[in-house]
This record gives sequence, C-alpha cells and structure tokens, in this order.
Amino acid sequence: MRIGILDSGVGGLTVLHQILKWLPKEDYIYYADTSNAPYGEKSKEEVKEYIFNAVDFMVGQGIKALVIACNTATSIAVDDLREKYDIPILGIEPAVKPAVQRCEGKRKKVLVLATNLTLKEEKYHNLVERIDHQDIVESLPLPKLVEFAERFKFREEKVVPYLKEELASFDLKQIGTVVLGCTHFPFFQKNMRSIFPEEVDIISGSIGTAKNVKRILEARNQMSSGTGDILYFSSGVKIEDKETLSNYKNLLVMLDKIE
Ligand code: DGL
Repeated sequence: MRIGILDSGVGGLTVLHQILKWLPKEDYIYYADTSNAPYGEKSKEEVKEYIFNAVDFMVGQGIKALVIACNTATSIAVDDLREKYDIPILGIEPAVKPAVQRCEGKRKKVLVLATNLTLKEEKYHNLVERIDHQDIVESLPLPKLVEFAERFKFREEKVVPYLKEELASFDLKQIGTVVLGCTHFPFFQKNMRSIFPEEVDIISGSIGTAKNVKRILEARNQMSSGTGDILYFSSGVKIEDKETLSNYKNLLVMLDKIE
C-alpha cells in the first residue's frame, strides 16, 4: 500500500522530498487540495471540512499511513483525524523547540514564519508557551509566499521585495534562527538566505517528520519494496495533464538544488 501525503497545494512536496530520502522504496499518493488553497487565509471550520473530505478520499484509495504535510492542517485537525481513522497519522509543526534550544542564552531571537491560521491557533500558542521561557520567539505570517508557490512564481524580483517589506520592522541582526513553519516556505530558502545575515540558521520540521514516518513503518513492519512512485491528485481528481505533472516533478528537482 501507498503512503498518503496531504497539503493544501504544492507545499507538501517539501516534506515528500525529505521522506523520499528516508524511504525511497515506498510508493506515494500526493494530494494537493488546490481547489481549496490557501488554507492559511480561511476559517478553522472551513479548513477542517476540506481536510476531512481529502482524507476520506485518500483512505478510500487505500493508504497505510497518512502524512499531513501542512502545518496549518496539522494544527487544526491532526487530533480529530487520529480519532476517526485507524492508520498512523503524522503531522508537522513549526520547529520552535530546536530553534529555542539553539538561541537560548545567546541573546538571539527566534523568528517563526507561518500562515495566519497556524499562528492564530491554540496549538501554536501552547507550543510557544511551553518552550519559550525567555520570551525570545517572534512570529510573522507570510501568506503571499503560499500564493507565489501555488502559481509557480519563484523569481526573486517578486519574492525578495515582498520579504524585505514584511521583515522591515525586525532587527535581523538580533535573529539567531528562522523557523519555516509552513511547508510552502522552503522553496524560498535561497531568497531568505540572501536577506538574513549569514550566521542565521533557517530550519524546518520536515526532517523530523520524515524520520518519524520511517520509524513508525519499521515498528509496524510495514515497509514496502516499491520504487518511489508518486500518484498526484488535485482535490480528488487524478492529475494526468503533462504540464502540471512536470511542474510538480520540477519542484522536487528544484528542492534537490536548494540543499
Ligand atoms: N502548506 C501549508 C502549511 O504548511 C499551508 C499553506 C496554505 O494553504 O495557506 O501551513
């Protein structure tokens, strides 16, 4: 059986890219809920309904595990999904803990970049409250990056001015670690590198999620010997047109070059 990967759009490819490194012999269903993206700008109730529809569909296709490759979806639905379905369900959340550990005691700040909905959610506030004892965590929503990625617009002439404008009120020299708390953001890592001082670390949670998928499949004796085949779906419809498929595949190649 395949592993299901779910995101509102292309962002989950940044997680799938990591998972493929750890589990190259699994086969995958990648579900982009493009008709309902962006999740980060909608209400919690609305997005929850989209997610349950998407997961019903994926489970109907037969998957042995589900990765919610979206910080926004994880923060609002992962607990309820685990109650409803009896396959392993893994999520992703902003890597606040490792970021705070790196910066604590160094008089440096952590900047969490995510969607509006993730940053508004109780789950995020609880996470920060639990970990940020020295009050060093700041956060910033960057909804336009999701929009750029969904339109396959990665040109720096568009992206860099937007980032500079959004970051104008921050003293970048004070930042020790930037957390990419939205799976669409790693596509823009190079642009961010050109803006933040060299010594700033930029991290995401996808490696942790990828390692967890492997650990869980091993523990359940559910490893496959597939070929890394990926079936792509867009809001319940199999993607078959060549241009879209090649756009998705090119993004995976682009991620190879970013690292
Ligand atoms: N990729 C998603 C995340 O990690 C959300 C993007 C969106 O649809 O707003 O939060």
